[in-house]
Amino acid sequence: MTALAKLETPLLPVSISEVPWEPIGIHGLQRKILGYDEQSGHVTFLLDIPAGWHGGGVAHYHECCEEVLLLSGSVTLDGSHYWHAGDYFYRPAHVVHGIDEKSEEGARALVRCDARMELLLVHEPDSHAEYPLPAFDDPRGHVFDLPLNEAPRLETNSFPSTWDLRALSDNAQTGARTILVTIPAGWEGDPEGPGQSWEAYCLDGEVSSAETTYHAGDYTVGDGSTPPLAARASKAGARFILWCFDKT
Ligand SMILES: [Fe+2]
Repeated sequence: MTALAKLETPLLPVSISEVPWEPIGIHGLQRKILGYDEQSGHVTFLLDIPAGWHGGGVAHYHECCEEVLLLSGSVTLDGSHYWHAGDYFYRPAHVVHGIDEKSEEGARALVRCDARMELLLVHEPDSHAEYPLPAFDDPRGHVFDLPLNEAPRLETNSFPSTWDLRALSDNAQTGARTILVTIPAGWEGDPEGPGQSWEAYCLDGEVSSAETTYHAGDYTVGDGSTPPLAARASKAGARFILWCFDKT
């Protein structure tokens, strides 16, 4: 996957409150697109699942990954296991799922798919639970359900040493990974870029660059020479999800 250029002006903040909802499919899902790459179909968006939602109910798989952080509510895709607010999952391409999709209370989630998504139906699945097909070959593996508060600490010198880094998923072959970053209140610094392009979505707090301040609900992208959110200071502290892409 080539580096993303989902915004014409990297580091331009996209505020979730200013993006319109658009419908997805025919079962009531809506999304707000934060970043989109026309060529690959790579997309990052906020998903809204309405209360009482029932999906198509047919097992299927995709030829792209689905990477999800549940922000509120709960949802199941197999009728028994529920993801709740604060749960993360990384479902690689070629993993069958979706036999009983529903949400009683509704949910909101941050979602990233690394290519244009098509539903490839499996009419006689081997299992109700998610399972990989023989074509499964993603070095990140299948992260089925990782609560953020159980994510392991990430040891790296790519970021300031006082930032708390939690690894959510990791591709050891390409260096691509997804990290939960917590910046302590009162931090100031002038960090270097991580050497790989990135996207970030601010979950809580605020982070200031030289030009702007990012708040909860703001998203942006940058290249490898730019530190996440071009961060220079955080008075109140901040928590954000950071998607880092292949090292080049
Ligand atoms: Fe799916």
